[in-house]
Amino acid sequence: MRDLRDKVAFITGGASGIGLGMTEAFLNAGMKVIVADLLEDHLDEMPPLAEPDRLVKFQLDVSDRTAMAEAAVKARACFGAVHVLCNNAGVGTAIPLDEAGYEEWDYVLRVNLGGVVNGIVNFVPLIKAHGQGGHVVNTGSIAGMLPAPAPHGIYATSKYAIRGLTDSLRLALGFHNIGVTLLAPGLTRSRGHEGARYRAAIERDGKAVPENPGAAAGASAGMPAIEVGEQVVEAIRYNRPYVFSHGEFRDELAAHFEEVLAALPGEQEIDPGRAAFEAERRALIAAARRAANSVH
Ligand SMILES: NC(=O)c1ccc[n+]([C@@H]2O[C@H](COP(=O)([O-])OP(=O)(O)OC[C@H]3O[C@@H](n4cnc5c(N)ncnc54)[C@H](O)[C@@H]3O)[C@@H](O)[C@H]2O)c1
Repeated sequence: MRDLRDKVAFITGGASGIGLGMTEAFLNAGMKVIVADLLEDHLDEMPPLAEPDRLVKFQLDVSDRTAMAEAAVKARACFGAVHVLCNNAGVGTAIPLDEAGYEEWDYVLRVNLGGVVNGIVNFVPLIKAHGQGGHVVNTGSIAGMLPAPAPHGIYATSKYAIRGLTDSLRLALGFHNIGVTLLAPGLTRSRGHEGARYRAAIERDGKAVPENPGAAAGASAGMPAIEVGEQVVEAIRYNRPYVFSHGEFRDELAAHFEEVLAALPGEQEIDPGRAAFEAERRALIAAARRAANSVH
C-alpha cells in the first residue's frame, strides 16, 4: 500500500509501547488511527498526537470475543473503513513453563494468540469487503523465532504460534490484495512492567503476576518504540513479510536455523506418491506466494 494518506489503521494495545510507536508513525505518514486499549488510563495518558478527526481511542479487551466483534462495527463507523489491522496487544508471565498451571497458560494464550485470532475473525472480512486492499500486522516477538528460557516459555509459545499464523495468513490474503507482516521486535521501551495491572483488568480472580525483570528492563533500555513504528510503516508501504526491528539477533538466528537444518536427514529414497503430494503442496504455496508478493 504505497499511498498511506488517509488510510485507516486499527491498533490494539495502541496506547503504550510498540502500539503507541505505531500510532505515532502512522499519523506521521498521514494515516487515520483507531487505538483500542485495555486500560483507560493508558488511553488518557497518550500524548496529544492528533485531533479526533484523525485519531479515535476506545477501551477494548482483545481476548473478549463479543467486545472484539463490537469493536469492528465501531471501528468501521469511525472513518467509514479500516485498511490496516495491527494485532499488537500482548502480555507476559514470568512463571516458568515447566511449573505453570492452566491459569498461566490460559491467560497468556487467551490474550496473545486469542487476541490475534479475534482481530482476524472480525476485521479481515471488513478489509476484504471494501475491496480497496489493506494490510495486517501481527506483533510477534524475537521470542517467536528463538527458544526462550523457562520463565518466558509460555510467552514464546504464544509468539511462535503468532509467527505460524502470520506466515500462513500472508499466503491466504495475497489473493485479496491484502498484505501481511510479522513484526518480531527485541527489547523495546514499553510499560510491560505493568503486566499485573493488565491481568487484574481482565481476570477478577487472577493470581498476582510476579515481577518480570525482562519487562522492567524494557521500560528504559529498549529501542524507542517510534523507531519500531517507522519500520512498520515501511513494511506496509512495501508489503514486507517481516519486520525484524532489532539487528542484535543475527548470530543467534543463524545458529538456530543451522541447528534445524543439521537435523534433516541426508539422501533419502522417497515414495513417488509422497513426492507427488509434496510437489502439489509446493505448487500451491508458490502460487500463494506470488499473489502475496504482488499485493500493492
Ligand atoms: N517491549 C518489548 O520489548 C517487546 C518485544 C517483543 C515483542 N513485544 C510485543 O509487543 C506488543 C506490545 O507490547 P509492549 O511491550 O509495547 O507493551 P506495553 O505494556 O507498553 O503496551 C501494551 C498495551 O496493551 C494493552 N493491553 C494489555 N492487555 C490487553 C488486552 N487484553 N486487550 C487490549 N489491550 C491490552 C495495555 O494496556 C498496554 O497499553 C506485545 O504483543 C508484546 O508481546 C514487546
